[in-house]
Amino acid sequence: MTEHPRTMRWNGNPDGWLTMIDQTLLPVQFKEIECKTVEDVWEAIKMLRVRGAPAIGCAAAYGVIVGLQTLESNADRDAFNYRLNEVTGYLAESRPTAVNLFWALDRIKRVAQENAELSPVKMHQRLLDEAKAIEIEDREMCAAIGRHGATLIDPGTGILTHCNAGGLATAGDGTALAIMFAASADGKEIHVYADETRPLLQGARLTTWELQQRGVPVTLICDSMAGQVMKEKRVQAVITGADRIAANGDACNKIGTYSVAVLAKAHGIPFYVAAPSTTFDLSLESGDLIPIEERLPEEITAGMGKQTAPENTEVYNPAFDVAPAELIEAIITEKGIISPVTTENVRSMIEE
Ligand code: MRU
Repeated sequence: MTEHPRTMRWNGNPDGWLTMIDQTLLPVQFKEIECKTVEDVWEAIKMLRVRGAPAIGCAAAYGVIVGLQTLESNADRDAFNYRLNEVTGYLAESRPTAVNLFWALDRIKRVAQENAELSPVKMHQRLLDEAKAIEIEDREMCAAIGRHGATLIDPGTGILTHCNAGGLATAGDGTALAIMFAASADGKEIHVYADETRPLLQGARLTTWELQQRGVPVTLICDSMAGQVMKEKRVQAVITGADRIAANGDACNKIGTYSVAVLAKAHGIPFYVAAPSTTFDLSLESGDLIPIEERLPEEITAGMGKQTAPENTEVYNPAFDVAPAELIEAIITEKGIISPVTTENVRSMIEE
C-alpha cells in the first residue's frame, strides 16, 4: 500500500516557505502551491486549498512563520510581539469552526511567551521548530488513532464515511481514514462507502482519491443514498472525523454528518468519530456552543462552476453540523477509545 504525498511541507529555515497540495484541484489535477506570505496561507485555508481540522492547524502554525518574515532584521522584541499578535489574529479569522486552528495559534503564542528572553531571530527559529513539532505530533496522533480504531473493525466490514478525514485533512494518515488504512494493513478486507459530501464534494473528490491511491476498495454514493445503503446492510459501521468536539462529546463535523448519525442509530449501526485530542474544546459544555461556519451561496447554486439554481435564489449554507453524543458509539482518539461518550469519560481521557 503506497503512502499518499504529504499534504504540506516546510522548505528551508525561518525565511523559507510552505508548500501544500491544492486540494481544490483534486482529483483532476495534482498541483502544489507555495505559500510565501501569511496572506497566501490565509487564502489557502479560507478557500479550502488546505482543509480538514488538523491540517488547518498545522498550516496556520507555519503561516505564523511566514508572517513573521516581514519584520526588519533589526526588529526589537516589541516589534516582534506586535507582529506575532497581528499575524495570529489574522490567521484566526480564516475559518471559525475547526478548533485545531485556534489550538495551534495558541500553542505558538504560548511558546513565544515562555521564551520571551530570546532575540527575535532566535525566537523565529524556535517558533519554526514548534510548528514542525505540531506537524510531527499530528502524524503520530493519526497513526495511534489508526491503531486504536482498527481494533473495532472486523474483517469484511462495510464502512460508511462522510467528507474527507484522510491524509489530506491531516499531516499524517488522517483520522477516520487512518483506521481504514490500519485495518487494511492488518489484512482485514473492508469496503468503504464514501458520501460525496455536498456542496464541495470532499468525499467524491478527496476520499475516493485517497482510498484508491492506497488500494482500499471504495464505492461513491450521493449523500442522500446513505439510508438506502444502510437498509441494504452494505455497511456495519460509520466512521467520520470531527472539527470540534465539546466536553460532553457532541461532535461537530462536515454538514450532513448529523443526518448520517441519525440514520446509523435508526439502523442499529455504530457511529464512530475519530479525532485527535487537539480537536476537543473542553471549554464548551455542549455542541450547541460550537460556531458553525456559513459559506457563500454560490457553493450551492453554482457548485463546481455550473449554475444549478435560478439567479438570486435564497440559500442557507452551513458548512458543519453537530452529532450529539448520544448518537456516538465511541470517539477514537490517539490516547484511546472513549465509550460510552459522556462528559466524565471525555474529560478523563483528554485531560489525562
Ligand atoms: O470544510 P472542510 O473540508 O475543512 O471540512 C472537513 C471535515 O469536516 C473533516 O471531516 C474534519 O475536519 C476532520 S479531518 C481529520
